[in-house]
Amino acid sequence: MPTLQTIRDFNPQGKRILLRVDFNVPQDEQGAITDDSRMTKALPTIQYLLEKGAKLIIMSHLGRPDGKVNENMRLTPIAKHLEVLLGKPVKKLDEAIGPSVHAEVEKLQDGEIIMLENTRFYPGEEANDPEFIKQLAELGEVFVSDGFGVSHRAHASSTGLASVLPAYAGFLIEKEMNALQPLMGEPKQPFTVILGGAKIKDKIGMIDQFIGKAQNILIGGGLANTFIAAQGNEVGQSLCEKDKLDLANELMKKAILPHQIIIATDVVIAREISETAATETVPANAVPTDAKILDVGPATVEAFTNIIKNSATILWNGPLGLTEFTPFQNGTRDVAKAVAESGAFSVLGGGDTAEVLKTLGFKDEDFSHVSTGGGASLEFLSGKKLPGIEVLYR
Ligand code: 3PG
Repeated sequence: MPTLQTIRDFNPQGKRILLRVDFNVPQDEQGAITDDSRMTKALPTIQYLLEKGAKLIIMSHLGRPDGKVNENMRLTPIAKHLEVLLGKPVKKLDEAIGPSVHAEVEKLQDGEIIMLENTRFYPGEEANDPEFIKQLAELGEVFVSDGFGVSHRAHASSTGLASVLPAYAGFLIEKEMNALQPLMGEPKQPFTVILGGAKIKDKIGMIDQFIGKAQNILIGGGLANTFIAAQGNEVGQSLCEKDKLDLANELMKKAILPHQIIIATDVVIAREISETAATETVPANAVPTDAKILDVGPATVEAFTNIIKNSATILWNGPLGLTEFTPFQNGTRDVAKAVAESGAFSVLGGGDTAEVLKTLGFKDEDFSHVSTGGGASLEFLSGKKLPGIEVLYR
C-alpha cells in the first residue's frame, strides 16, 4: 500500500530543496501579520532541513493576485517575520524564476535560506503550466511540501513539482494527515461533529460524510437557521438560505440514528448587529419577524455540552454565532470550553474556526489538533482527495 513519503525518507545534506509552504497568513491593512500559526507550524520542517544541512528555497503564495505582480502581496513581510521566528537570515528574492533567481541559488550554502517571490504572481502557477514547473524545478533537486493549506489546489508549486522532482511531505502535512485521516476511517465512538458557520453549501459534504460515522451532528451558527426554517419555523431577518430548505430537509432525513442531527433549540436574537445590541433568548420556533438569530442559546449550549462530555472524538468546523461581536460570542465560547475540557480527541478544522477560538482566548493546546487548512480541511473532511497530498504517496 502506498505510504506518505516524508522528509525522514531521504538525506537532505547539501541538497537544494524547493520547500512549498502555505504562508498565506492573515494581515491587517498595514500588512502586519495578525496570525502567524501557519508559519510557526511549518518551523519544525524548516529547522529539521536546515539542521541536516539542506540549502532551502522556500515557496509560498499570498492572497489571490491572479497571475500578476501585486505590490501588496509581496512576500517581503513574510520573509522578515520568518527571520524573526528562526533567528537567522532569510534572503527574500523579488522574483520566483529567471536568471537573477538562478544566480542567488548558485550562491546558497548548506543551512542557508532563500524565499522566492509570491508564486501566484505568475499565471503558470495556478495553470499548473509545464513550462513554469520546469523553470521552478531547475532551481532545486528535491521537492518538499509542507503547505497543507494549499494541498487542495493542483498548482505548479504544489503538485506540478512533484511530477518532475522526488517529492516528500514535511512534518506539518504528516501531522495534519495523522489527525484528520482517522476521522475518515473508524474514529473512536462516541464521535461528535459540531458544525457552524454561515452556509449549508460549504457543509453538505461533511454532513453527508459523517452521517455514516458520527453518533451526533450538532448544528449551530447561520447554518442552523436554514434547518430551523426548513422545519417550518419563522426565522425573521436572520441569515437563511431560502433556496436550500429542501436540501436541509433531505439531510435531516438521511440521519440513520434517532437524534443524530441536533439543531439549536433556543437562540439569541437581536434587532441590530452591534457591540451594544440588546439581546433576548427565545425558543428556535418563536423568532419574531423583525429579529435576527445571532447565536445559539443556553439550553442548546447545555444540550451540546452534555453530548460533548460523553464524546471520545470531536470534530468542529465553524463558529456557532456571529462572533465578530461580543454579544453573540457566548455560545461559541461555552461550547469551546466544553470541548477543551472534554478529554476527547478534538480536532478543529477550517481556518475561520481556529481564528475565532484564538480571538476568544483559546490556545492550540486546548485541542488535540488545530488544522492549518481552510478549504483543504473542508475538502478532505468531505471525502475529497487532496491532489497536493496524493502526489506524496508512493
Ligand atoms: C487558504 O488560505 O485556504 C490557502 O492558502 C489556499 O488559498 P486559496 O483558497 O486562495 O487557494
